[in-house]
Amino acid sequence: MNIQQNFSLQSYNTFGLDIKAKYFATFETETELNQILEKCANIPKLILGGGSNILFTQNFEGIILYNQIKGIKIEDDFDDSVIVNVGAGENWADFVAYAVKNGYCGIENLALIPGTVGASVIQNIGAYGVEVKDFVKNVYTNGKKSVYNNIDCKFGYRDSVFKQENPKQSVILSVTFHFSKKPHLKLDYGDIRKILQESNIENPTTKDVFDAICHIRSSKLPNPAEIGNAGSFFKNPEINRSHFEFLKQNFPQMPFYPVENPEKVKVPAGWLIEKAGWKGKKIENIGVHEKQALVLVNYGGGKGIDILNLANQIEKSIQEMFDISLEKEVNIL
Ligand code: FAD
Ligand code: EPU
Repeated sequence: MNIQQNFSLQSYNTFGLDIKAKYFATFETETELNQILEKCANIPKLILGGGSNILFTQNFEGIILYNQIKGIKIEDDFDDSVIVNVGAGENWADFVAYAVKNGYCGIENLALIPGTVGASVIQNIGAYGVEVKDFVKNVYTNGKKSVYNNIDCKFGYRDSVFKQENPKQSVILSVTFHFSKKPHLKLDYGDIRKILQESNIENPTTKDVFDAICHIRSSKLPNPAEIGNAGSFFKNPEINRSHFEFLKQNFPQMPFYPVENPEKVKVPAGWLIEKAGWKGKKIENIGVHEKQALVLVNYGGGKGIDILNLANQIEKSIQEMFDISLEKEVNIL
């Protein structure tokens, strides 16, 4: 067991923030994890995957447990579907590419999302009309309740039982997914059809959709290797339909999406933030991305606390202008 001290997390968080952890240890198996947990029973702990949904506002005065549990195992291989167990430390985007290459369908819309397989279930990652919950069979954790089936996970929009019940308490070790081998493409979100048409693709395959999603994402979202960020900083809020109708009088262009509850609609936070004048705003070395107002960025050398202050200012201004409360999607530490 190798526990490092005073460890820089700069290349372990996609904001690229230069903060330190008092202790840092990597685990590749559940046994290694248990050994570390036993040794460090009384100090604060944080499980770290790809660090792509975390904002560190200060040094971490405990131990970072860096998840490197790998492995992809086919549990069942049927004519028209497959069940696959994946180590929580596998890279999510690599796993999607692997699934597409092997003809496992449906997951292609979740291409290129950073982070690990384990963390994918924590906030039920979603993009382009698909959420990871659509494929999750079981989640395996250490600790008391060690197998969660899809219903136990209590998945919601950017939400799950693991997010609700303090994710630091249990460690996700692996996830089992169920995929169809028959394509069932979801092409209705955003520019997917447009991109396919521009490439003269009339009968798209799963791989064509995967490529289209990669293309759209690369053109819109900043690459953390170039500009520090954690994707959408806020969730898209759900508001009462009556409130939406009222706002529509002043903002007739406001986009909206229906949700399950007919009394509510979802509005894009990116649109609200842009309308409030924040898009492209730069405050020294941090700011709001110029192409996507929902993404806060660190241009280099920024501080987590300044990004948090900026987020709070944005929340305040959206509250004042639209009477809408934004909720942070990123985990603040
Ligand atoms: P981390 O940031 O390392 O951790 C996140 C939280 O989960 C922390 O609380 C951590 O303690 C906990 N955790 C991590 N692993 C475990 C584990 N094994 N057991 C228990 N707890 C754990 N998200 C979307 O939903 N859709 C998108 O389209 C999307 N696009 C993005 C684009 C960019 C450019 C970026 C930077 C981020 C984007 N995200 C998106 C957010 C992010 O990719 C996801 O939330 C991702 O699942 C986080 O994975 P991670 O391994 O980096 O988690
Ligand atoms: N919009 C603006 N200005 C902006 C940004 C967006 O007007 O600066 C408008 C767009 O024109 C569009 C609407 O807002 O009408 C939605 O924009 P987009 O399709 O880019 O998606 P989003 O709502 O901003 C969500 C997810 C993303 C996910 C995309 C694609 C949340 C919080 N974010 O973003 O997830 O990739 O849809 O499905 O739900 C993440 O969670 O980190 C993330 C990146």
